[in-house]
Amino acid sequence: MIDYGQLVLLISPKGKRYLHRLDPAAEVHTHEGRILMSEVAEAGYGRSVATHLGRPYLVLRPTLSDLIKGVKRQTQIMYPKEIGYILLRLGIGPGSRVVEAGTGSGGLTMALAWSVGQSGRVYTFERREEFSRLAKKNLDRVGLSERVEFSCRDIIEGFGVSGAEALFLDLRTPWDYLGQVPPAVMAGAVCGFLLPTTNQVSELLRGLSAGPFADPEVLEILVRRYKPVPDRLRPEDRMVAHTGYLIFARCMGGPGLHAQDPPEPRSDPEPAD
Ligand SMILES: C[S@@+](CC[C@H](N)C(=O)[O-])C[C@H]1O[C@@H](n2cnc3c(N)ncnc32)[C@H](O)[C@@H]1O
Repeated sequence: MIDYGQLVLLISPKGKRYLHRLDPAAEVHTHEGRILMSEVAEAGYGRSVATHLGRPYLVLRPTLSDLIKGVKRQTQIMYPKEIGYILLRLGIGPGSRVVEAGTGSGGLTMALAWSVGQSGRVYTFERREEFSRLAKKNLDRVGLSERVEFSCRDIIEGFGVSGAEALFLDLRTPWDYLGQVPPAVMAGAVCGFLLPTTNQVSELLRGLSAGPFADPEVLEILVRRYKPVPDRLRPEDRMVAHTGYLIFARCMGGPGLHAQDPPEPRSDPEPAD
């Protein structure tokens, strides 16, 4: 039995996905017939229900990846492949306080809000009001907006937050805002950036080496999917070859780091002990 108000993911035999909040009085209309949500509630997660035309749909509890795929977008949103690594690399977990800009459609905001739990806080900044509103709506839809402070402003004015444990910038010219980062985060905080082109990455590295940032890392993440057919196992014909580069660095506090003597960016994996 699934309780009223819980999120439910329905998957058709052809793999089409429907994300809904459970209202037992409602019906979902698909290309393959109607599904009664009262039957979905009765069936429970991990079962299937039939449309009125007899087509079986899987009933599943959505994961974070499913929620992100369901984000209504007016901007480029981040891909789950990047988000997974970002959460790990920023060290986001229950109770974390994290700063993010720009909010865009709220793809990354959703992942951060999910991961900080009820005791954490996400401070997200977006200069365009229509995107800030859309992101809030996307998070409302999945019940995560209470963990987030949405600010509609240009981060050139600063973040108005202090002591955050981590920060992420997904906007075109992050080097323009590096001066605003130290007052917002605690000393040693991990800061991350996503950029689509290598010349932007170079510009950012120059900016990081001029400021109180240390231990830079640059990487990209490629995911190669396979057709899940046991007798003809092979990669899919197409893959997303490029989304963006991820850059991480620590924001150091106080004096001691010199612009003239920046640490070299890491190019090889660290050897194991
Ligand atoms: C690529 S989108 C972010 C997408 C977001 N990470 C997501 O997953 O949905 C970049 C956003 O940064 C915003 N932006 C750019 N410069 C900004 C600034 N100086 N202050 C605040 N927001 C900014 C843009 O308006 C845009 O919505």
